Amino acid sequence: MDALDLIKEDHKRLKKLLKDTLEAEGSQREHAMDHLRTELVAHERMEEEVLYPRLRDENKARQEVLEGYEEHHVADVILDELLDVPAETDLWKAKVKVLKENVEHHMDEEESELFKKARAVLDRDELERLGERMEQIKRSAEDAD
Ligand SMILES: [Fe+2]
Ligand SMILES: [Fe+2]
Repeated sequence: MDALDLIKEDHKRLKKLLKDTLEAEGSQREHAMDHLRTELVAHERMEEEVLYPRLRDENKARQEVLEGYEEHHVADVILDELLDVPAETDLWKAKVKVLKENVEHHMDEEESELFKKARAVLDRDELERLGERMEQIKRSAEDAD
């Protein structure tokens, strides 16, 4: 599958998981968070292992890629903090809300800015090849969890 189509499809799923997690109540919260965490981390890793390194050295795309790494880092920090916050608290919900807003903004930016740069630099064949590698990484990240 084309790398950008794969990312876009994944973003759709992640947006739903973010919404479900924010709306979860009671004992559902931890379960929703675990699911979201697994999927979000696997998504970040496949981008960081395949697409980002490929684009990082292209002058046209470099700045967007560097921003992407930073935005992943912010999401990882919030995910880590959530490990220490009880799911029944208001603080938990506040952190999930901020995570949701940050990740949604990041995904929208990837789909507009980064995709535009990627299409300018990569041809169809290469996008297919990168997509295949990303699918493999995502599958092994999910299996390992
Ligand atoms: Fe990303
Ligand atoms: Fe993404």
